[in-house]
Amino acid sequence: MGESAGTRKAEADTVRAAIDAGLTLIDTAEMYGEGGAEEVVGDALAGRPGRVFVVSKVYPHNAGRNDAVAACERSLRRLRRDNIDLYLLHWRGSVPLADTVAAFDQLKKQGKIRHWGVSNFDVADLEELWALPSGKACAANQVLYHLGSRGIDYDLLPTSRKEGLATMAYSPLGVGRILDNPAVVEVARRHDVEPATVAVAWTIRDGSVISIPKTARSDRLAALAAAGSLELSGEDLALLDKAFPLPREKHPLATS
Ligand SMILES: NC(=O)c1ccc[n+]([C@@H]2O[C@H](COP(=O)([O-])OP(=O)(O)OC[C@H]3O[C@@H](n4cnc5c(N)ncnc54)[C@H](OP(=O)(O)O)[C@@H]3O)[C@@H](O)[C@H]2O)c1
Repeated sequence: MGESAGTRKAEADTVRAAIDAGLTLIDTAEMYGEGGAEEVVGDALAGRPGRVFVVSKVYPHNAGRNDAVAACERSLRRLRRDNIDLYLLHWRGSVPLADTVAAFDQLKKQGKIRHWGVSNFDVADLEELWALPSGKACAANQVLYHLGSRGIDYDLLPTSRKEGLATMAYSPLGVGRILDNPAVVEVARRHDVEPATVAVAWTIRDGSVISIPKTARSDRLAALAAAGSLELSGEDLALLDKAFPLPREKHPLATS
C-alpha cells in the first residue's frame, strides 16, 4: 500500500472497510511506500471518530537520538495524528540501542507516542535491550510468525511471554504461500472457513500474540476478521503440527 498515487483512494477505502470489519489495529511504517502507506492511513482515518490503534516504525538509520524524534514527527504529519499508539524500531541497525531508547523515552514524555517497541529482535537482542535502564519499557516485538516459519516457538515466544512482552506476528499468511497446504485446507474445510482464517487463527491460538495480516482487497477482509472467533481444536492443532512441525532446536530469527 502507498506505493502509487493511482491506488491511494482505493487503499484508504480498504483500510476504512477493515476498521468497519473490526480490524482496528493498523500496522504501517515510514518505509512502506517511503511514507505513502502512512499517508493512506492518514486519508483513511481523517474525520473518522472511533478508536483505532496505530503502529508505525522508524528506519534503523533514522533511529538516533534526534533523528528518531524528527522521523516520528514526519510520520505524525503523514498520519495526521497527534500520537502513534506504538512506535517500533523496524530492525536493528548500527545506531546504539541506548540512543534509540533515549529518543523513544523523549517521544513518550512529549506525548507523541503512547508505547514503543522493536521488530525483528531475537532473544539475544532483547536481552541487550532489557539490560538498558528503560529497556524493560519495550511493549512489543514484531516478528515473522506463521505456520511455515515457527522458529520463535522454540525460545523467543516463551521468553517474551515470561517477560510480559507482547509479540506481533507479521506475514501470518506466509505471504499467501501456506494457504494451499493440504492440512490448512482440511482444517478450513472442517470449520467451513477460508484457509486464510485458519492461518491467522493459528497465530493467535493462545491469546498472547497479535497478528497483522495484510490484504489490499476489501473482499478478503471478512476472512481475516473471522480468525478472531475461530477456535482451533486439539485435533486441528495436531494436524497442523504434523504438517508444520515444532522446531526442535534454535534457529536464527527468520525475516522472510
Ligand atoms: N516488521 C517487519 O519487518 C515486517 C515485515 C513484513 C511485513 N510486516 C507487516 O506485516 C503485514 C503482513 O505481512 P505480509 O504482507 O508480508 O504477509 P501476509 O499478511 O502473510 O500476506 C499478505 C499476502 O496474502 C494475500 N492475501 C490476503 N488475504 C488473502 C486471502 N484471504 N486469500 C489469499 N491470499 C490473501 C495478500 O494479497 P492481497 O493484498 O492481494 O489480498 C498478500 O499478497 C504487512 O502489511 C506489514 O504491515 C512487517
